[in-house]
Amino acid sequence: MVSLEDYEKLARTRIDPAIWAYLSGGAADEITVNENRSAFDRIKLSPRLFNDFSAANTQLTFLGNDYAHPIFIAPTASHQLVHPDGELATALGAAAMQTPFVVSTQASVLLEDIARSTEAPLWFQLYIQADREFTLDLVRRAENAGFQALVVTADAPLSGLRNREQRANFRIPAGIEPVNLRGMKPVPAATQVFGSELLATAPTWKDLAWLQSNTRLPVFVKGILAPDDAVLAIEHGVSGIVVSNHGGRTLDTLPATIDALPRIADRVNGQVPILLDGGIRRGTDILKALALGATGVMIGRPILHGLASAGAVGVAHVLKILRMELEMAMTLTGRPTLADIDSRVLWEK
Ligand code: FNR
Ligand code: LAC
Repeated sequence: MVSLEDYEKLARTRIDPAIWAYLSGGAADEITVNENRSAFDRIKLSPRLFNDFSAANTQLTFLGNDYAHPIFIAPTASHQLVHPDGELATALGAAAMQTPFVVSTQASVLLEDIARSTEAPLWFQLYIQADREFTLDLVRRAENAGFQALVVTADAPLSGLRNREQRANFRIPAGIEPVNLRGMKPVPAATQVFGSELLATAPTWKDLAWLQSNTRLPVFVKGILAPDDAVLAIEHGVSGIVVSNHGGRTLDTLPATIDALPRIADRVNGQVPILLDGGIRRGTDILKALALGATGVMIGRPILHGLASAGAVGVAHVLKILRMELEMAMTLTGRPTLADIDSRVLWEK
């Protein structure tokens, strides 16, 4: 097992085909899923020689916190789909690699239990629910459990058109549920989109403002792809943004996140940290994201591949591989620290 691709292949042999369809699939024709990868592959690097690496490191500081490296675990639902210990095993792997873990609203383990079990820095991903009182209660629970930031996902007011999932007839298996949402008033299932209660209660920028006035935690908005939305988020006083197309799972034919990043970074102009996710499978991908303006990156599916393959050890190994690959890429492009990474690491077209 020497690369993230190796973990993907092993995981596939361990995961039920319908669950695999849910985990690896995306929206519609999966053009964006594929684009997230191929866009990274199109970008070429520029090597630099004979630099001094005696004090090289991957340290990162933002919002007053120090991080050992710029790699975060993206929020993904129901880790028990691929491992009986679910998010507890993920958190153990995260702690081993000093990696912040963004726990999904749809986690399959209670957020308090995750917090008690780990020393990994924890952030909480929030879907603002139709039941706003319940949403606030969830935020309080995350605050009280010691979560350090909220990541409000904005790009999925409805789940995408998941044809692969539909064809595989994916259902959450009995015994696995989004336990942190127990007791919430459910939104009735609907056969239409417009006119549904889901859309009638979907959050707007006003709800983001409401949320911010009700929490002391820094708030990131996840799902930014249009530069104008980055500007709006900053106008709303967010602490940071996550450039994301939800791993190609919401709207198909969105561009790759790495292609959307430069214009967003240009408009953000250093006012807030920018995290990016989508298609990161190599340390060189991380280097490219930082070169184009990201502060750090988040990893989605490969974490689940590590978890399915070898539990906490698999999660830690996936993170370790990525970190080593990043360090090698930094070495060979002559960049001893993250601050040294700029657009000149990219080969000019
Ligand atoms: C996700 N993602 C996601 N995002 C979120 O904000 N809340 C969630 O509950 C989930 N759930 C989820 C489940 C699964 C199975 C996947 C694959 C993804 C999106 C995730 O945070 C991230 O944006 C992408 O996964 C990043 O792309 P890669 O790294 O998977 O290519
Ligand atoms: C997904 C939802 C849970 O991507 O965000 O499956």
